[in-house]
Amino acid sequence: MSQTITIRVAALAGASAPLTVIYAAENEAPAGAAAAIWAGTGLGWSETAEAGAFKGKQGQALDVLGAAGKRLLVLGSGKAGADTPLNGWTDRGGSLLAKIAATRATDVAVVIDEPGATPAAIGELTAGLRLRHYRFDKYKSARPDDAPGALTVTLLVADPAAAELAIVDRGATVDGTLLARDLVNEPANVLGPVEFAARAAELAGLGVDIEILEPEALEKLGMGSLLCVAQGSDRPARLVIMQWRGGAAGATPLAFVGKGVVFDTGGISIKPAANMEDMKGDMGGAAAVTGLMLALASRKAPVNVVGVIGLVENMPSGRSVRPGDIVKAMSGTTIEVINTDAEGRLVLADALWYTQDRFKPRFMINLATLTGAIVVALGHEHAGLFSNNDELADRLLSAGRNANEKLWRMPLAPAYDKLIESKFADIRNSVGRPAGSITAAQFLQRFVNDVPWAHLDIAGTAFGAGSSEINSSWAPGFGVALLDRLVRDYYQG
Ligand code: BES
Ligand code: MN
Ligand code: ZN
Repeated sequence: MSQTITIRVAALAGASAPLTVIYAAENEAPAGAAAAIWAGTGLGWSETAEAGAFKGKQGQALDVLGAAGKRLLVLGSGKAGADTPLNGWTDRGGSLLAKIAATRATDVAVVIDEPGATPAAIGELTAGLRLRHYRFDKYKSARPDDAPGALTVTLLVADPAAAELAIVDRGATVDGTLLARDLVNEPANVLGPVEFAARAAELAGLGVDIEILEPEALEKLGMGSLLCVAQGSDRPARLVIMQWRGGAAGATPLAFVGKGVVFDTGGISIKPAANMEDMKGDMGGAAAVTGLMLALASRKAPVNVVGVIGLVENMPSGRSVRPGDIVKAMSGTTIEVINTDAEGRLVLADALWYTQDRFKPRFMINLATLTGAIVVALGHEHAGLFSNNDELADRLLSAGRNANEKLWRMPLAPAYDKLIESKFADIRNSVGRPAGSITAAQFLQRFVNDVPWAHLDIAGTAFGAGSSEINSSWAPGFGVALLDRLVRDYYQG
């Protein structure tokens, strides 16, 4: 059973709770409002800090049990006066949640009284609290040592009204990240293409226009590439188009496209058994796009945005596409299917072509758990960025640094493009091991038709990256915070 968390703000002078948290900087006594609370313990600071081996470094904690069952937790805030970047506050929120959870308290007041604690910083801290608090445990039976059912955290800050606005605004993005995590963590028996489309359709409640295309409509559009991936599965494909119209009527939209392979067995070119269960996360791109649409709509972002996700299941059966088969994409390009496990590019080929053809967007960014090769190249630290547009690429790199969802740019070039030529058709879907992530990107580029475009290969970052200060679940919801940041920083108003 999952614990609920409620986060409130109040004035610095206010609330007392069974557990109070204050901060102290490196080799400094608690200052400001925290000093007054420390004074209430009647203890000398330097002796107590020394006895607890507390130096105020980030991550350190000093636990003080007071009179009348009250408890005070002093946390280190690092070097005094050091300028914490905003994403440092997110991490601080995550670390705070872990410390609070370890006490098993249910009602906590946290004093945040430092010069750098702007409303935006409090918004990030709150995001960190919620992101670290998230667990995907809906399929675990309750156990006696589970965390208490509800946790209330009251942040005591200088300007509660301004902090509240920042928390709500940043909270919309957190909601999007958490939706993306839920979708990626969910097993494929529960989340097929139809069920995923139904989850996306729930965004209608926030004012997102939803269209769901079924196989018959996709057939009419000529999407032979996307459809060939789905044909081996008993579960039919869906293409979902989500539109958020927060900008001026008729203003050119931004477009985001996601790979949504709800499960990737590899098809006839079947994958080995080891870790195949991870392939329930092969819809991480579609999950990020859906989470982003939720974030933008919840915070009523003043911009027009289109999200398109291609939802299929890649299964082996008597109806599956075979190696050697030739299919025709919506663009008219013919594709020789060399390897049925290189299915993501087949799905995106039609989703990308459709998106640029119908919406003529300002740019098109796709996200996909596309290649194992990007994990070999970049591990779990950076997602691969491929782009035909330097300005868009630079903006993405910067948004990634700020959101702490980092990207590393990889090359595109005619010499790589030549490698995807086919003996029998216009192009082939698989080449060979050298430059595997780049040849996959070159394949996608055949379907973008010169629109400013970026491809994010998130195979190493969408799941299984290990836990971080702000995530302890398998799926971090990678991409939502990054793209929300991109939209906020460059494309609003
Ligand atoms: N979904 C996989 C890529 C993947 C691998 C994502 C590991 C996350 C973790 C993709 O569909 C795939 O199978 N790619 C093949 C391409 C190859 C057949 C050209 C790969 O990377 O091996
Ligand atoms: Mn595959
Ligand atoms: Zn795949």
